[in-house]
Amino acid sequence: MKTSGGSDAAKRRAGESAAGTVDDGDVVGLGTGSTAAHAIRRLGERVDAGVEIRGVPTSFASRELAADRGIPLLDLEEAVGPDAPGIDVAIDGADQVAVGGSGDGDGVNALIKGGGAAHAREKLVDAAADRFLVVADPSKEAPVLDRSVPVEVLPAGRSAVAESVRAAGGDPTLRRAERKDGPVVTDNGNLVLDCAFGEVADPAALAVTLSTTPGVVEHGLFVDLADEVHVGTDSGVRVLTR
Ligand code: A5P
Repeated sequence: MKTSGGSDAAKRRAGESAAGTVDDGDVVGLGTGSTAAHAIRRLGERVDAGVEIRGVPTSFASRELAADRGIPLLDLEEAVGPDAPGIDVAIDGADQVAVGGSGDGDGVNALIKGGGAAHAREKLVDAAADRFLVVADPSKEAPVLDRSVPVEVLPAGRSAVAESVRAAGGDPTLRRAERKDGPVVTDNGNLVLDCAFGEVADPAALAVTLSTTPGVVEHGLFVDLADEVHVGTDSGVRVLTR
Protein backbone atom coordinates (compact mmCIF):
# COMPACT_ATOMS: atom_id res chain seq x y z
CA MET A 1 0.00 0.00 0.00
CA LYS A 2 1.15 3.54 -0.64
CA THR A 3 2.80 5.53 2.11
CA SER A 4 1.33 8.96 2.80
CA GLY A 5 4.26 10.77 4.44
CA GLY A 6 7.02 12.81 2.85
CA SER A 7 6.95 16.22 1.25
CA ASP A 8 6.97 16.61 -2.51
CA ALA A 9 9.99 18.94 -2.21
CA ALA A 10 11.98 16.19 -0.45
CA LYS A 11 10.94 13.64 -3.07
CA ARG A 12 11.97 16.04 -5.83
CA ARG A 13 15.41 16.58 -4.32
CA ALA A 14 15.95 12.82 -4.08
CA GLY A 15 14.80 12.16 -7.64
CA GLU A 16 16.82 14.99 -9.12
CA SER A 17 19.94 13.98 -7.16
CA ALA A 18 19.85 10.48 -8.61
CA ALA A 19 19.02 11.72 -12.11
CA GLY A 20 22.07 13.97 -11.89
CA THR A 21 24.38 10.93 -11.66
CA VAL A 22 23.29 9.56 -15.05
CA ASP A 23 25.99 9.84 -17.73
CA ASP A 24 25.64 10.65 -21.42
CA GLY A 25 24.98 7.40 -23.30
CA ASP A 26 23.52 5.53 -20.31
CA VAL A 27 20.62 3.11 -20.46
CA VAL A 28 18.49 3.96 -17.39
CA GLY A 29 15.90 1.88 -15.58
CA LEU A 30 12.92 4.12 -14.88
CA GLY A 31 11.18 3.34 -11.61
CA THR A 32 7.57 3.81 -10.56
CA GLY A 33 5.96 6.11 -8.02
CA SER A 34 5.89 9.78 -7.09
CA THR A 35 9.61 10.02 -6.18
CA ALA A 36 10.91 8.18 -9.24
CA ALA A 37 8.64 10.43 -11.32
CA HIS A 38 10.78 13.41 -10.28
CA ALA A 39 13.86 11.58 -11.57
CA ILE A 40 12.10 10.88 -14.87
CA ARG A 41 11.11 14.53 -15.26
CA ARG A 42 14.71 15.65 -14.62
CA LEU A 43 15.99 13.07 -17.13
CA GLY A 44 13.53 14.50 -19.64
CA GLU A 45 15.04 17.94 -19.06
CA ARG A 46 18.51 16.51 -19.58
CA VAL A 47 17.38 14.90 -22.85
CA ASP A 48 16.04 18.30 -23.93
CA ALA A 49 19.49 19.73 -23.13
CA GLY A 50 21.15 17.19 -25.45
CA VAL A 51 22.13 14.31 -23.17
CA GLU A 52 21.64 10.98 -24.95
CA ILE A 53 20.04 8.39 -22.71
CA ARG A 54 17.58 5.58 -23.24
CA GLY A 55 15.05 4.53 -20.59
CA VAL A 56 13.72 1.11 -19.62
CA PRO A 57 10.30 1.60 -17.96
CA THR A 58 9.16 -0.51 -15.01
CA SER A 59 5.43 0.09 -15.46
CA PHE A 60 2.69 1.49 -17.65
CA ALA A 61 2.91 4.71 -15.59
CA SER A 62 6.67 5.21 -15.94
CA ARG A 63 6.48 4.43 -19.68
CA GLU A 64 3.72 6.99 -20.14
CA LEU A 65 5.59 9.72 -18.21
CA ALA A 66 8.92 9.06 -19.93
CA ALA A 67 7.32 9.08 -23.39
CA ASP A 68 5.59 12.35 -22.53
CA ARG A 69 8.98 13.83 -21.52
CA GLY A 70 10.65 12.74 -24.77
CA ILE A 71 12.92 10.05 -23.32
CA PRO A 72 13.76 7.35 -25.95
CA LEU A 73 12.65 3.97 -24.61
CA LEU A 74 13.78 0.36 -24.75
CA ASP A 75 11.88 -2.72 -23.59
CA LEU A 76 13.70 -4.87 -21.05
CA GLU A 77 13.98 -7.54 -23.76
CA GLU A 78 15.87 -5.08 -25.96
CA ALA A 79 18.08 -3.84 -23.13
CA VAL A 80 19.31 -7.12 -21.65
CA GLY A 81 20.84 -10.05 -23.54
CA PRO A 82 23.96 -11.17 -25.40
CA ASP A 83 23.96 -8.36 -27.97
CA ALA A 84 22.04 -5.82 -25.90
CA PRO A 85 23.44 -2.68 -24.29
CA GLY A 86 22.55 -3.63 -20.71
CA ILE A 87 21.20 -1.25 -18.07
CA ASP A 88 23.80 1.12 -16.62
CA VAL A 89 21.73 2.48 -13.76
CA ALA A 90 18.19 2.11 -12.40
CA ILE A 91 16.45 4.79 -10.32
CA ASP A 92 13.44 3.69 -8.30
CA GLY A 93 11.45 4.58 -5.20
CA ALA A 94 10.70 2.51 -2.11
CA ASP A 95 7.96 2.19 0.47
CA GLN A 96 10.37 1.46 3.31
CA VAL A 97 14.17 1.35 3.62
CA ALA A 98 15.91 -0.46 6.48
CA VAL A 99 18.85 1.66 7.60
CA GLY A 100 21.57 0.49 9.95
CA GLY A 101 22.02 -3.16 9.00
CA SER A 102 25.38 -4.80 8.44
CA GLY A 103 27.57 -3.48 5.65
CA ASP A 104 30.60 -1.34 4.97
CA GLY A 105 28.57 1.87 4.70
CA ASP A 106 25.23 2.86 6.19
CA GLY A 107 23.89 -0.70 6.22
CA VAL A 108 21.15 -0.16 3.65
CA ASN A 109 20.48 -3.69 2.45
CA ALA A 110 16.74 -4.25 2.45
CA LEU A 111 13.72 -2.42 1.04
CA ILE A 112 9.99 -2.93 0.72
CA LYS A 113 8.54 -1.97 -2.65
CA GLY A 114 5.25 -2.55 -4.43
CA GLY A 115 3.02 0.17 -3.04
CA GLY A 116 2.12 0.89 -6.65
CA ALA A 117 1.87 -2.85 -7.49
CA ALA A 118 4.78 -2.51 -9.94
CA HIS A 119 7.39 -4.47 -7.96
CA ALA A 120 7.65 -7.48 -10.32
CA ARG A 121 8.89 -5.44 -13.27
CA GLU A 122 10.76 -3.09 -10.94
CA LYS A 123 12.76 -6.00 -9.52
CA LEU A 124 13.57 -7.28 -13.01
CA VAL A 125 14.89 -3.90 -14.12
CA ASP A 126 16.53 -2.87 -10.83
CA ALA A 127 18.33 -6.20 -10.45
CA ALA A 128 19.57 -6.11 -14.05
CA ALA A 129 21.14 -2.67 -13.65
CA ASP A 130 24.86 -2.18 -12.96
CA ARG A 131 23.89 0.41 -10.32
CA PHE A 132 20.56 0.63 -8.51
CA LEU A 133 19.80 3.98 -6.89
CA VAL A 134 16.82 4.25 -4.54
CA VAL A 135 15.11 7.61 -4.18
CA ALA A 136 13.18 8.32 -0.99
CA ASP A 137 12.18 10.89 1.61
CA PRO A 138 12.92 10.51 5.34
CA SER A 139 9.48 9.04 6.09
CA LYS A 140 10.63 5.85 4.32
CA GLU A 141 13.60 5.21 6.64
CA ALA A 142 13.22 2.70 9.47
CA PRO A 143 15.56 0.68 11.69
CA VAL A 144 13.61 -2.50 10.89
CA LEU A 145 11.19 -3.20 8.04
CA ASP A 146 7.66 -3.46 9.40
CA ARG A 147 5.32 -2.44 6.60
CA SER A 148 3.16 -5.00 4.81
CA VAL A 149 5.01 -6.82 2.07
CA PRO A 150 3.20 -6.68 -1.30
CA VAL A 151 3.07 -10.10 -2.96
CA GLU A 152 1.96 -10.38 -6.60
CA VAL A 153 0.13 -13.68 -7.12
CA LEU A 154 -1.37 -15.61 -10.00
CA PRO A 155 -5.16 -15.10 -9.75
CA ALA A 156 -5.73 -18.86 -9.53
CA GLY A 157 -3.26 -19.09 -6.66
CA ARG A 158 -4.69 -16.35 -4.48
CA SER A 159 -6.14 -18.57 -1.73
CA ALA A 160 -3.26 -21.06 -1.77
CA VAL A 161 -0.69 -18.29 -1.44
CA ALA A 162 -2.73 -16.67 1.34
CA GLU A 163 -2.65 -19.96 3.26
CA SER A 164 1.12 -20.22 2.80
CA VAL A 165 1.57 -16.64 4.01
CA ARG A 166 -0.47 -17.41 7.14
CA ALA A 167 1.63 -20.52 7.74
CA ALA A 168 4.72 -18.30 7.53
CA GLY A 169 3.31 -15.99 10.22
CA GLY A 170 1.81 -13.34 7.94
CA ASP A 171 -1.62 -11.80 7.60
CA PRO A 172 -2.55 -11.40 3.91
CA THR A 173 -5.08 -8.86 2.59
CA LEU A 174 -6.19 -8.74 -1.03
CA ARG A 175 -5.47 -5.26 -2.34
CA ARG A 176 -8.69 -3.58 -3.42
CA ALA A 177 -8.85 -1.04 -6.23
CA GLU A 178 -9.93 2.54 -5.77
CA ARG A 179 -12.46 3.90 -8.25
CA LYS A 180 -13.10 0.35 -9.50
CA ASP A 181 -15.06 -2.47 -7.87
CA GLY A 182 -12.90 -5.46 -7.05
CA PRO A 183 -9.18 -6.04 -6.70
CA VAL A 184 -6.13 -4.26 -8.03
CA VAL A 185 -4.97 -6.03 -11.20
CA THR A 186 -1.26 -5.53 -11.93
CA ASP A 187 0.28 -4.56 -15.27
CA ASN A 188 0.92 -8.31 -15.62
CA GLY A 189 -2.72 -9.32 -15.04
CA ASN A 190 -2.19 -10.64 -11.53
CA LEU A 191 -3.47 -9.84 -8.01
CA VAL A 192 -1.67 -8.39 -4.99
CA LEU A 193 -1.77 -9.64 -1.40
CA ASP A 194 -0.47 -7.13 1.16
CA CYS A 195 1.09 -9.35 3.79
CA ALA A 196 1.64 -8.05 7.33
CA PHE A 197 4.45 -9.87 9.14
CA GLY A 198 5.13 -7.28 11.86
CA GLU A 199 8.83 -6.55 12.22
CA VAL A 200 10.81 -8.42 9.58
CA ALA A 201 13.95 -9.35 11.52
CA ASP A 202 15.45 -11.39 8.67
CA PRO A 203 14.36 -9.98 5.28
CA ALA A 204 16.60 -12.40 3.35
CA ALA A 205 14.97 -15.44 4.96
CA LEU A 206 11.45 -14.12 4.38
CA ALA A 207 12.38 -13.32 0.77
CA VAL A 208 13.38 -16.95 0.21
CA THR A 209 10.17 -18.20 1.83
CA LEU A 210 8.01 -16.01 -0.40
CA SER A 211 10.03 -16.69 -3.55
CA THR A 212 9.64 -20.44 -3.08
CA THR A 213 5.87 -20.32 -2.52
CA PRO A 214 3.99 -21.72 -5.55
CA GLY A 215 1.73 -19.09 -7.08
CA VAL A 216 3.91 -16.15 -6.05
CA VAL A 217 4.95 -14.16 -9.10
CA GLU A 218 7.11 -11.69 -7.16
CA HIS A 219 7.28 -10.12 -3.72
CA GLY A 220 8.26 -6.63 -2.66
CA LEU A 221 11.31 -7.46 -0.51
CA PHE A 222 14.41 -6.17 -2.30
CA VAL A 223 17.42 -7.58 -0.44
CA ASP A 224 21.03 -6.68 -1.25
CA LEU A 225 20.04 -4.95 -4.48
CA ALA A 226 20.36 -1.22 -3.76
CA ASP A 227 23.76 0.44 -4.18
CA GLU A 228 22.76 3.88 -2.89
CA VAL A 229 19.72 5.51 -1.32
CA HIS A 230 19.26 9.20 -2.10
CA VAL A 231 17.17 10.60 0.75
CA GLY A 232 15.76 14.02 -0.02
CA THR A 233 15.17 16.26 2.98
CA ASP A 234 13.74 19.74 3.37
CA SER A 235 17.22 21.20 2.96
CA GLY A 236 19.28 18.80 0.84
CA VAL A 237 20.07 15.17 0.05
CA ARG A 238 21.74 12.45 2.09
CA VAL A 239 23.28 9.61 0.08
CA LEU A 240 23.35 6.31 1.99
CA THR A 241 25.24 3.20 0.94
CA ARG A 242 25.26 -0.46 1.83
C1 A5P B 1 5.76 0.90 -6.99
O1 A5P B 1 5.19 -0.36 -7.00
C2 A5P B 1 6.55 1.08 -5.73
O2 A5P B 1 7.55 0.13 -5.56
C3 A5P B 1 7.07 2.49 -5.62
O3 A5P B 1 8.38 2.59 -6.09
C4 A5P B 1 6.99 2.86 -4.19
O4 A5P B 1 5.63 2.69 -3.80
C5 A5P B 1 7.42 4.30 -3.93
O5 A5P B 1 6.47 5.20 -4.39
P1 A5P B 1 6.47 6.71 -3.91
O6 A5P B 1 7.75 7.30 -4.38
O7 A5P B 1 5.27 7.31 -4.59
O8 A5P B 1 6.34 6.71 -2.43
